[in-house]
Amino acid sequence: MKVAIVGIGAVARYLIDELLSGKHDIVAISRSRKPWLDDLNVEQHQVHYTADMIAPLIQGCDAVICTISSSSPELVGVHESLLKACKSTPTCKRFIPSVWVGNFEDIRDQPYYGADRIQRIYDMLVGQMSVEWTLLSVGWLIDYVIPASQRYLPNEKFWVQNVNDKTFKLYGNGTQTISCTAARDAASAVVRLLETDAEWEPFTYISGEQITWLGLWRIIKEYDPEYRLAPKSLTESIKQLVDSTDGMATVEAVFDVMGHSEALCNPQERVDKHRHIYFEGIQFRSVKELIEDAKANPGRII
Ligand SMILES: NC(=O)c1ccc[n+]([C@@H]2O[C@H](COP(=O)([O-])OP(=O)(O)OC[C@H]3O[C@@H](n4cnc5c(N)ncnc54)[C@H](OP(=O)(O)O)[C@@H]3O)[C@@H](O)[C@H]2O)c1
Repeated sequence: MKVAIVGIGAVARYLIDELLSGKHDIVAISRSRKPWLDDLNVEQHQVHYTADMIAPLIQGCDAVICTISSSSPELVGVHESLLKACKSTPTCKRFIPSVWVGNFEDIRDQPYYGADRIQRIYDMLVGQMSVEWTLLSVGWLIDYVIPASQRYLPNEKFWVQNVNDKTFKLYGNGTQTISCTAARDAASAVVRLLETDAEWEPFTYISGEQITWLGLWRIIKEYDPEYRLAPKSLTESIKQLVDSTDGMATVEAVFDVMGHSEALCNPQERVDKHRHIYFEGIQFRSVKELIEDAKANPGRII
């Protein structure tokens, strides 16, 4: 199989690892050159995202996976170009957009400042029949619980752990459940999805573990007793959203509101159903299993 990956960042690196280990061919498409792709012998192209520019690059591909930053102002336009390019080729008839979120199927208004763009991508895809597609519901990619040196995902200000002052942001009483998936396990599931002949559904549910924030806090504290709780109320998060003047504070507040809500929890019956249809044999690690993997393999990207 030959797969085009568009927007080469942290998530793309996991996908590339997993595609290469499955002996698949890759075409990497991005705006800027990535020298590390040369070391892996991966074909790469730098583009402006017009359908005319992309179409020749995906000739002979079976699928396109987009992983451009979801904060990109051109997110919808890039997806329009990619879909148009797929339609123009005879073989590239599967498309995974850059929607790596929680339960968007049921919670259509989150992430606040972003949901409308996901909805526009969804509307664009559902309004056509020639390219098969699915939106990925992965919950939180949970790799932030392991050291930065063992993951491609960079430290994020909006994640609940502050690794500098060792605080854990607890939303309300911490009883909301979130779906947690290791990025590599999500990538491995995506490769499996591409390999299957089974028909895709509009939403694909992937989750390594369903856990409450309080449950996650207990694990973090167990592995590093220096961590302290930093409770954050829903009102504080809403106030931050309303008052925020810089982009990063807004992003943090948007994720806080999600953290307080049900939007990051994938329904277990849909997770189980998709494991059965698509993902038999993949080991989706729990939070503890991921941490143990990192401890057992120091110096390795997990
Ligand atoms: N559910 C979760 O917990 C979770 C966690 C992490 C990420 N994600 C999602 O996964 C996807 C990929 O995440 P990521 O962390 O790999 O993303 P990223 O590293 O922030 O961005 C990926 C690539 O997008 C390209 N890009 C950035 N701004 C762009 C723009 N304005 N127009 C076109 N391309 C642009 C950049 O490549 P070039 O500059 O070379 O073009 C960048 O390397 C996103 O949808 C993100 O929201 C979800």
